Amino acid sequence: MNVLSVTSELFPLIKTGGLADVTGSLPKALQTCGISTSTLLPGYPVVMDKIKGAVPLLAFDDLLGEQASLLHAQVDDLDLFVLDAPALFNRPGGPYVDEAGNDHPDNWKRFAALSRAAAEIANGALPSWKPDLVHTHDWQAALTSVYMREMGCTLPVVLTIHNLAFQGQYGVDRLHAIGLPASTYTTQCLEYFGDISYMKGGLQTADAITTVSPTYAREILTPRFGMGLDGVLNERVMALRGIVNGIDLDVWDPATDTYLPRNYDGTSLKRKRENRAVLLERFGLDHGEGPVFSAVTRLTWQKGMDMLAETADEIIHNGGKLIVFGKGDHDIEAALLATAARFPGRMAVHIGYDEPTAHLIHGGSDAIVQPSRFEPCGLTQLYALRYGCVPVVSRTGGLSETIIDANDAAVSARVATGFQFHPVNTDGLRLALRRALDTYSDTRSWARLQNQGMKTRFSWERSAEKYAAIYANLVGNRTDGGLRRLGA
Ligand code: ADP
Ligand code: GLC
Repeated sequence: MNVLSVTSELFPLIKTGGLADVTGSLPKALQTCGISTSTLLPGYPVVMDKIKGAVPLLAFDDLLGEQASLLHAQVDDLDLFVLDAPALFNRPGGPYVDEAGNDHPDNWKRFAALSRAAAEIANGALPSWKPDLVHTHDWQAALTSVYMREMGCTLPVVLTIHNLAFQGQYGVDRLHAIGLPASTYTTQCLEYFGDISYMKGGLQTADAITTVSPTYAREILTPRFGMGLDGVLNERVMALRGIVNGIDLDVWDPATDTYLPRNYDGTSLKRKRENRAVLLERFGLDHGEGPVFSAVTRLTWQKGMDMLAETADEIIHNGGKLIVFGKGDHDIEAALLATAARFPGRMAVHIGYDEPTAHLIHGGSDAIVQPSRFEPCGLTQLYALRYGCVPVVSRTGGLSETIIDANDAAVSARVATGFQFHPVNTDGLRLALRRALDTYSDTRSWARLQNQGMKTRFSWERSAEKYAAIYANLVGNRTDGGLRRLGA
């Protein structure tokens, strides 16, 4: 089966978060289920740099008013279609924001163009390749199925919601410019509180909707987590399914990770101390005993990083150290930096985003803190488990089903892997940090948690099979329908 995956980011080419990790690793896993994935992504400058010599397949003279072409390339194991549209994608900054951190003003057009190009491919624009199914990711690709339905293309579409907080909501005056007729501006398609919503259009026109954990799939049916789309999701509940993310066990392996000064595995955990020494040096922290807690994350309200700024003293006053590495909202960055200034040598906050540092932090830390207010799946806690860091997480979304809280029953059954807290507020976080600090002082209990975490398997295998089953069901239904029609 051929699948066209449509995404705005893809590891290792371009990444701002977990979406890239997932779209970059799922195709490999699906291959073992007999599914071959080709991924369409925008030709950002870093992508164009990495695919020099790519073969042009198709020219668009007028892709929403812009000139564009479709290139074919292979990077590592990934088969790629790259949308080269210089007016839309060749500019400084990241995929969504400019160098000053402001949204690109034409994101509405950039990602409509990506979706439009995807729909053309689905509709047979490439004589040499046609997908059996299209898999779209998040609002940036969600219009694909709206365009497809407008073209009369009935190929099945799976839309995966990685984060419902981002929806692509724009004024209805954009409708004409994105090449969609007024008939799509209805509550059954794009209309959303007087605006148009790309995510809503996708939810209404995809055949199956998935999200990245079963708990988040349930949460988004409620007003608290549904971000205004819970009504639509309830209407489409029979098409909605949660599939927990896997991780790439080759990219994230402490035994072979080339970013670590010292490699280790479950039988040689003591070697983590060498990484810890390098890590403390790197972040300008004092050496000495006490656990190192770290957060590697977007510094945003979603991730509860304001709560970590308020509770950092709990760690420091009890002999621990805290490292925060990430980028995000300016007020949260400022709050964290101000807290760190109160604890020189004990707490460090570095504003930045780079892969080697993220790996080093996992390799050298004792615990990873992820106090998210909502978390569709979360990958950092999974990397933490694999690297022998004990996760301290809020009980929400994917965090609640990937970490087993060290309560009495779980500890005596030897299945505990970390600490969860609920309610998700600073008191809850403070208590969880205190529990972690207490446990750390009992070396054997801590080692048991680490070992249990390292044994947990979050490979893609099982989840890829679940995607494959959804694909097969949709493609099979279509074939059956076709056969029935032929037979009639
Ligand atoms: P989200 O996608 O919501 O940001 P996830 O936990 O799913 O959250 O994925 C986050 C990804 O981004 C992980 O791969 C993590 O290692 C990476 N990441 C987060 N912050 C940084 C950072 N400062 N530097 C490098 N990688 C980071
Ligand atoms: C989103 C979510 C995160 C999830 C990631 C990959 O960015 O916030 O929880 O792990 O997508 O699916």
